[in-house]
Amino acid sequence: MSVLATRIDWAREHCRLLRSISAEYAGTRPFEGLTIGTGIHIEAKTVALLLTLRDGGAKVVATGNLNTTQAEAVDVLRAEGITVVGSVTKDADVHGRYLDEVLAAEPDLILDNGGDLFAKYLEKPYPGLLGGTEETTSGRMRLEPLRDALGVPVLVINDSPIKQFAENEHAVGQSTLESFLRLTNRSTNGERVTVFGYGACGRGVAANFRGAYARVSVVDVDPVQRLRAHLDGFAAPARETALANADVVITVTGGRNVVTAADLPLLRDGVILANAGHFPVEIDVEGILGHPDVVARHEYTDDLLTVELADGRRVHVFSRGHMFNLAGPRPIGNSIESMDLGFALQARCLEAVACGTVDASSCVVPVPRRIDDRVATGYLDQRY
Ligand SMILES: NC(=O)c1ccc[n+]([C@@H]2O[C@H](COP(=O)([O-])OP(=O)(O)OC[C@H]3O[C@@H](n4cnc5c(N)ncnc54)[C@H](O)[C@@H]3O)[C@@H](O)[C@H]2O)c1
Repeated sequence: MSVLATRIDWAREHCRLLRSISAEYAGTRPFEGLTIGTGIHIEAKTVALLLTLRDGGAKVVATGNLNTTQAEAVDVLRAEGITVVGSVTKDADVHGRYLDEVLAAEPDLILDNGGDLFAKYLEKPYPGLLGGTEETTSGRMRLEPLRDALGVPVLVINDSPIKQFAENEHAVGQSTLESFLRLTNRSTNGERVTVFGYGACGRGVAANFRGAYARVSVVDVDPVQRLRAHLDGFAAPARETALANADVVITVTGGRNVVTAADLPLLRDGVILANAGHFPVEIDVEGILGHPDVVARHEYTDDLLTVELADGRRVHVFSRGHMFNLAGPRPIGNSIESMDLGFALQARCLEAVACGTVDASSCVVPVPRRIDDRVATGYLDQRY
């Protein structure tokens, strides 16, 4: 008999670590009687994580991040008994109200992405918060100065080596290439691609485009990273030279105003500008749109925008500078396996906080090594 299965079923099926943790949790129930409040992108793989937490006995109250919540995932979560607050929004105030609503449930554990929930908790603390997790570097930087005020264990998933190489390097590289091809239907062969940022993400992006026969150059403000790119065989020219020769520019730095309207005179006709960094501030899209040299703009469906300059050159921008591997038609984000690893770290870290095996001295610190070992071993055991 055939049953209509969805993309969410596919993701759940292939989150093999989370499925094995769910099976274990059915017996151990580490979150019995606890509420977990979450503020993280809601899409297919997140469903697998939140259901694992539920299978561990938690009452889960979830909301998404700005602009990325997927309706199909929300429907499945609600049908499975998870409380999902709000729906997709680009409005920061509305998003703020959703976060407030999550905190109104006074969760015992918080799963945060960018530090919003913990920062808001400190504005209106309630008794009984045990601690939680933070997914990103940006969140870690925001929460570090708040350690004393928080005074509970908060484990930072991004600082696990597993997250660094599995997601940031391999998966962001792959999904960026996949999204470029899906959004443009254009060839990468022989095209000149400039990657801004040669951290974990940039290394993966550069490697994947090289693997797709593009001619890749790298720009990094850190001379050590620039040297690394050079020794890895990429061109590492001066910023202006790289921009002037690029057919495609991809920013993935975590910085602000990496490419701005001041760069317009350098750009080739037909250049594509795309950002894969977390915040939509790496390419100053508003500054570019407001520049006096811009004489026309064309908005395509599928998150593409073209601006025409007075001298006839055209500049294409993906997704108005938002992370383009979560944009366009049928965005699928990073690979299921990379998210399964990262989310297994999430589940194990929340379990450690719930069970009291980490204490307040672990406030805004990396994932403990024993958890990295356990997750890596679990993944490898399923394959060998
Ligand atoms: N798109 C995704 O799915 C995804 C997933 C994970 C992380 N991220 C985001 O990608 C960004 C990069 O993450 P990472 O882990 O590679 O960070 P990282 O800190 O390892 O590397 C960033 C690099 O960018 C360089 N840099 C900073 N400002 C620059 C500038 N103006 N010009 C050129 N280089 C500059 C830094 O020197 C550094 O080498 C972050 O915003 C992160 O949150 C995106």
